[in-house]
Amino acid sequence: MARMAGWRNLARTMMMLGMAASAIAVTATGQEARSDEEPRQRGWSLLASVAGVDGVSAVSGWYNEADLFGRGEAGRSMRRPVFPGLPIGAAGTMEQRLRHVADAPVITFVHYDPEAYGHVRGHRLYQAERLTELMQNGARDPVYPHMLAIPPLPRGARVLMSAWWPVGAGSVTPLPVWDPREVARPGGSNDYTSWRRVVAVDAGAAAGRAAPVTFAGRTFVTARRVALNRFIHLPVGRRLAAHLMEDAGARKAALIALGRPLRTGDSLVLVAFHLMAADAGMGVWATAWWHDRPDEGVFAADRPATIRGRWRHYLMDVAVDPVLPLEPDGSPHICFNPWFEAKFPDGGQGSGLKSNCINCHERASYPPTEFLPVRRGTSDASGDPAFAPGRLRTARLWALANPPRESP
Ligand code: HEC
Repeated sequence: MARMAGWRNLARTMMMLGMAASAIAVTATGQEARSDEEPRQRGWSLLASVAGVDGVSAVSGWYNEADLFGRGEAGRSMRRPVFPGLPIGAAGTMEQRLRHVADAPVITFVHYDPEAYGHVRGHRLYQAERLTELMQNGARDPVYPHMLAIPPLPRGARVLMSAWWPVGAGSVTPLPVWDPREVARPGGSNDYTSWRRVVAVDAGAAAGRAAPVTFAGRTFVTARRVALNRFIHLPVGRRLAAHLMEDAGARKAALIALGRPLRTGDSLVLVAFHLMAADAGMGVWATAWWHDRPDEGVFAADRPATIRGRWRHYLMDVAVDPVLPLEPDGSPHICFNPWFEAKFPDGGQGSGLKSNCINCHERASYPPTEFLPVRRGTSDASGDPAFAPGRLRTARLWALANPPRESP
């Protein structure tokens, strides 16, 4: 049922976007990463489960944050916003929004597959009242018996968080690119305004090899020119432009990238995404980001042939554990996305450049708590306030730990 609603929505999305059905190839959905594989193989398998050939992929039939926290049944509601829906945080009031948008915003959405959506809706986990009830009479957490837990996500349920960069119609737009040689500024942050390299995304003829662009107060005289079709991208229509310009973070991102608000005819290019799947152990936490040299370096390693077309322009890293495999210096495993975590400051245990998905998501619990500073390694169950007795763990989902009070 949920799956059918997803397909219907996909068809409607394509109509809205004015795309031919053949432009979006939906490949294997529900393909589960196998736990007997090496972590990188598990990460790539998970990515392959959402990667269509060239279009916006299977996830356009998934449910977004507004569906998850909305009062009505998303599948039945005529007012359901089509893919990509509302930007992250739009369902909450301003002071409730997690302050991770910071000074370097990107246009960010969260998408839940039908299994994850069905689970959250079926157990009413989107309601603060329900979470409060579960703190009284919920099940004990199997790992931290002094805490409670929401019913665990069904195995294979997937959640994706996507980040998009605006590209101006018919023009050349600067796009910062993260390279492994980046180092944090004093204080730890390495947000995109400080990255050393910028490319020029050409939404027009892509003629010429280099283009001068100005970005965040710096001029790049010979920025490498790259064509729009190297990215998974979405056309911006009138409604999407209007939706996005109501959101403070998205508006700021457009001003930084384009120097003006988003307009009909612009594009959004997928620059990064997080994809987690509930699975044996702590699940699979894969993360990917666009790169102009996607076949070089450790993050390109082991990319399988099942990843095709434009999806091959994304580098990947993965965490299946907060500690293992250890880093070469013997410290706990690092896994971060330059677009999402690099901006996190150093609070004593390292900046976002040293973070690990699972270490932070283990802490997701209700009532709302701070997700920063970055911590490393195994959880500090006795000293960390996120693990205080009686708190409710939210299946490693931060969005559930911080439910919006009012939904549109
Ligand atoms: C220091 C903390 C921290 C780290 C490290 C971190 N995240 Fe998150 N993540 C968050 C917060 C907070 C949110 C909620 C954002 C919101 O709803 O505004 C989130 C949201 C998400 C979501 C959407 C579902 C949810 O939990 O609400 C996914 C999927 C996700 N992150 C995956 C990852 C992956 C993969 C990594 C590692 C590459 C990672 N995260 C690293 C804090 C973190």
